[in-house]
Amino acid sequence: MNAIGNASPSPSARFGEAYARLRALEGRGGGGEAELAALPYLTEGPLARQWGVRARTFDAFVARVVVPLELSLGRPLRVLDLGAGNGWLSARMTRRGHAAVALDLRTDSVDGLGAARPFARSLPRMFPRVAASFEAIPLGRRLFDVALFDASLHYARDLAATLAEAAAVVAPGGRLAILDSPFYRRACEGEAMVDEKRRTTRERYRDLADALLSVPAVEFLTADLLAAAAGPLGLVFRRHRVAYPLWYEARPLVALLKRGRAPSRFDLWEAAVP
Ligand SMILES: C[S@@+](CC[C@H](N)C(=O)[O-])C[C@H]1O[C@@H](n2cnc3c(N)ncnc32)[C@H](O)[C@@H]1O
Repeated sequence: MNAIGNASPSPSARFGEAYARLRALEGRGGGGEAELAALPYLTEGPLARQWGVRARTFDAFVARVVVPLELSLGRPLRVLDLGAGNGWLSARMTRRGHAAVALDLRTDSVDGLGAARPFARSLPRMFPRVAASFEAIPLGRRLFDVALFDASLHYARDLAATLAEAAAVVAPGGRLAILDSPFYRRACEGEAMVDEKRRTTRERYRDLADALLSVPAVEFLTADLLAAAAGPLGLVFRRHRVAYPLWYEARPLVALLKRGRAPSRFDLWEAAVP
């Protein structure tokens, strides 16, 4: 498998460049190597609260998906990390003895694949990084034991096509997993979030907004949207409900009291590949 190659040209490249600038503005990658090594268990800084949620999903992924596969296969797993960003999850899998591959559109050093470079010094072996879209994965078919999207599936333009592509690179009996994508109970709640996000992106990031909003991503999921996209592929996703911090679990109640928009929740979604 390849090291970093050329990412797709625009509009993905334009989106990727603007996204990297947005991530830098959000403070991503600002904590240097120590922060990178700590992910997802970040306990300090402005992003710690968010990572406190994401760490719970990761723990559930290890307990519910990784450990059962370790026990049933009895060998190192082949793991494909789709939309891997700086590759922290691939690094965690590598430390666990597995063969991970990190794939992302972006190669920048903010929190794209380029930011994974320090892992080469601390890991027993560096995981391969592939600059590509998860909508056209340039890797062999039926190769992986698990392919996962961590905080990335909602960037897909076409949910069914993206799931089909991911399923095609997983061996029969392997797993697809979705972590940290926003799920709403009803599509209208997700659409309200998208409207708000478009508005605030235009207000806050005027010079980046056109590029950021140029990729028509699905932006959110519902159980029904996922089932409709996955069903024809023979994939049945089940939700593993994750116990998140109290403040996160209380958001629906807070929204109700404040008459605000219904919040999403992440959880872990898993399907066996037929
Ligand atoms: C919110 S970040 C999550 C990164 C990482 N998985 C994590 O957990 O920190 C979403 C990532 O998806 C990537 N992405 C978006 N669309 C993509 C696509 N079509 N193909 C590959 N990566 C994509 C972005 O570049 C970004 O790195």
